[in-house]
Amino acid sequence: MMDMKLSFIFMSILIVAAPSSVYERDEVLRIFPRNAEDVRFLTTMEEEQGLSLDFWKLPSGPDNILDVHIKKASLSLVKDELKRQGIPFTVLVHDVGQALQLHMRTNRMSRARSRMRRDEVFDFSVYHTYDEITDHMRHIATSYPDIASIMSVASTYEGRSIMTIKLGKPFSNGTVKPAIWMDGAIHSREWVVPATIIYAVDKLARQYGSDPTVTRILDELDLYLTPVFNADGYVYTWQSDDTRLWRKNRAPQAGPCVGVDMNRNWDSHWAEDGSSHDPCSLLYHGTAPFSEQETRGISSFIWDNRRDIRAYVAFHSYSQVWMAPWGHSYNRPPGDAGAQDALGQLAVETIKSVHGADYVAGRAMETLYQVSGDSQDWTYDKAGIKYSYIVELRDTGRHGFLLPPDQILPTAEEIFPSILTVGEWILEH
Ligand SMILES: *[C@@H]1O[C@H](CO)[C@@H](O)[C@H](O)[C@H]1NC(C)=O
Ligand SMILES: [Zn+2]
Repeated sequence: MMDMKLSFIFMSILIVAAPSSVYERDEVLRIFPRNAEDVRFLTTMEEEQGLSLDFWKLPSGPDNILDVHIKKASLSLVKDELKRQGIPFTVLVHDVGQALQLHMRTNRMSRARSRMRRDEVFDFSVYHTYDEITDHMRHIATSYPDIASIMSVASTYEGRSIMTIKLGKPFSNGTVKPAIWMDGAIHSREWVVPATIIYAVDKLARQYGSDPTVTRILDELDLYLTPVFNADGYVYTWQSDDTRLWRKNRAPQAGPCVGVDMNRNWDSHWAEDGSSHDPCSLLYHGTAPFSEQETRGISSFIWDNRRDIRAYVAFHSYSQVWMAPWGHSYNRPPGDAGAQDALGQLAVETIKSVHGADYVAGRAMETLYQVSGDSQDWTYDKAGIKYSYIVELRDTGRHGFLLPPDQILPTAEEIFPSILTVGEWILEH
């Protein structure tokens, strides 16, 4: 009896003292750079001081905020340096390890509850593994063969095929239809993105024939949706809590480094400012434009179909912005900026009308930080797709990538009608 009690107490202690995470007592700092020199200082601090900085949010888009996750061991050094330079900052996340464990535990519990209900339907309110997402895409294609088909336009370093679903009713005369391409999770840790896209895939397929807008869009257009661009990285983020924050692909690079930032690897202003030459950096641009088979495969498909693709949307998280080109330049694209902004503005109004969330329509390079080699600049400049956007989903930083599962549905619900907004705009312009 006594023994049992003791072992119960002992076990309770084990449970309370959760296994320590590699992120224990790491912090995310929210930094407010005052000018481009501050940004340069922050983004080069990594190489110059031999730190490994994990940028959660770069100061692209309409605001100047930079969020960076800093290892516990480097915290005082970085904070001292910021104070010395007079760069304002606050602490956004006080313990990344704890925040991450809470996020993972909540998702595990929600998944367990969902399995217990033994629902036949896919539960959109929890995060799903790569296999669950692709199984559901196959299920949709099997259930709605008239309007849905599975395609694989690229493969990954680890040999997975990147799954795309094509939605749309073929023209009876067999002509190629105008199309929209949307992809997500080129950065694997942005988990709300695949969850949002698979929701949209499901809704589009199910509402065809009943909802007039969905029906019109799928009758007149083809939608290509790729929920998990970075399939290897996404699978890796599910491996353990310690790999949850992986961003790049999984291709081995020089020395001990792994992975290329696939949103710096496109053949447009490749390897310019706003990307890194350091193979260990999370902004590493790779050895050459399209050095990665994932970006090579997807971009060739877009290239081959560029005359039909009227809009390109890359979903990311987080910060709630809808961004038009360019990422590499402050300039507004002459001729197209007005129309790009008008659709962006309409999209964020649509989003707000659902749950009141504020998304900001703007440009990828509006303020202090340049992005080079990103997908949007290539689809716009090279493939000539006028309506090329990067959309950052929820939230604005409170949880960042560790968004609790109870925010998945609200995010998906507000983004779905904005996808219809893009479709309707393309039909009318
Ligand atoms: C084929 O059908 C579509 C939709 O009805 C129409 O818009 C298109 O012009 C047609 N193409 C040809 C070559 O007839
Ligand atoms: Zn991203």
